[in-house]
Amino acid sequence: MVDERNFTQYLSRHEIDATIQQVAERINRDYAGEQLVLVGVLKGAFVFMADLARHLTVDFDVEFVRLSSYGKARESSGTVTILKDISADIRGKHVLIVEEIIDSGRTLKFLFERLRSSGPKSVEIVTLLDKESKRVVDVPVKYVGRKIDDQFLIGYGLDLEEKCRNLPDIYYLKYPN
Ligand code: IMP
Ligand code: MG
Repeated sequence: MVDERNFTQYLSRHEIDATIQQVAERINRDYAGEQLVLVGVLKGAFVFMADLARHLTVDFDVEFVRLSSYGKARESSGTVTILKDISADIRGKHVLIVEEIIDSGRTLKFLFERLRSSGPKSVEIVTLLDKESKRVVDVPVKYVGRKIDDQFLIGYGLDLEEKCRNLPDIYYLKYPN
């Protein structure tokens, strides 16, 4: 499935796991004794969400949202709409948004503000990967697995036109165009 001429391994499954363990330890410490709601951002975050959840020792509920801003293109469009909303009442609860990668930040900014307006106790963000140099809007990201350069990545939930999400490791595209 992975054409080695076009893709180079960027993070192995072991590096990904070590990164998640470090992030999970911080979350476990910060939310000890608290009730948490994890809000996973579909589709890309489903793999990270599953692995992160299994490293958490705090109590949590699981929710998912699906937002459209990317479509099939590789650039964020700037207009965000909700395709699937959370089903739980988050009033008075600690919310942690779970994202696999942040690029422009537009998707997250929209979601962050929207969840915040529903009266939770707190809203924070955890992302596995952060393309910090691509940020166009300011969004407070509390937990970052790894800061990365501007590269188009696939695998571990990240897709190339809906394919490759199942790859256990993360690859980058050598020839993006
Ligand atoms: P943003 O709104 O520009 O921050 O877009 C973030 C979303 O775009 C992520 O949650 C991913 O779904 C997608 N995305 C950003 N960079 C990549 C990438 O390198 N590979 C695959 N999807 C990506
Ligand atoms: Mg995503």
